[in-house]
Amino acid sequence: MAQPKAFLFDLDGVIVDTAHFHYQAWRRLANEKLGFDISEEFNESLKGVSRTESLDRILAHGNVTLSPAEKENLATLKNDWYVELINKMTPDDILPGINAFLEKTRLAGIKIGLGSVSKNAKPILERIGILSAFDAIIDGTKITKGKPDPEVFLKGAEELGASPDECVVFEDAVAGIEAGRRAGMKTVGIGQPDILTEADVVLANLNNMTIEDLRKALHF
Ligand code: G6P
Ligand code: MG
Repeated sequence: MAQPKAFLFDLDGVIVDTAHFHYQAWRRLANEKLGFDISEEFNESLKGVSRTESLDRILAHGNVTLSPAEKENLATLKNDWYVELINKMTPDDILPGINAFLEKTRLAGIKIGLGSVSKNAKPILERIGILSAFDAIIDGTKITKGKPDPEVFLKGAEELGASPDECVVFEDAVAGIEAGRRAGMKTVGIGQPDILTEADVVLANLNNMTIEDLRKALHF
């Protein structure tokens, strides 16, 4: 049976629950600076999307037009609030089952990559103590196009020496699943099946997941 060669993990919402912090910071910005609210449902469309594109979507959602300088200020303010939240994180914030699953992956001889659009990815991995678990880190500082563009995952595969059909993407975002599919990779959605409809397999989390069960589910 063919072996997967590399697993590419999204960060926010897969390794740590920072997806919630992004929402909290964007919501505060919308409430305090733009005069409207953003729902959790609307927030699904921001997951996996870059900082500037997220702000553009929020402004369009509230029918607000701003100058590039004003947008820059708001994006910086959101990031300041977001960084305040992530600075309180500890290794206890790693999502259930992640450490064990990364260890199983390593023992199975499968390479481990990070594929995140976030420019805060490395400091977060350092803060929660798992930076060294990754063989390659592709983050917002290394890419020019955010998800759903496949660039982040294709770069990950390249750095890990795997071809796209030997890679599996783990994602909590609709845009991230699309990016993985467009890269020609198998996709595991972490979250709800009714939201991540395009994923090959959807799991609530990686708790107790084995490499063998995953291989079977993905028909590797
Ligand atoms: C990830 C998150 C998005 C976030 C993006 C940029 O893809 O899912 O919600 O907007 O990273 O993050 P940054 O930390 O650079 O603002
Ligand atoms: Mg995510």
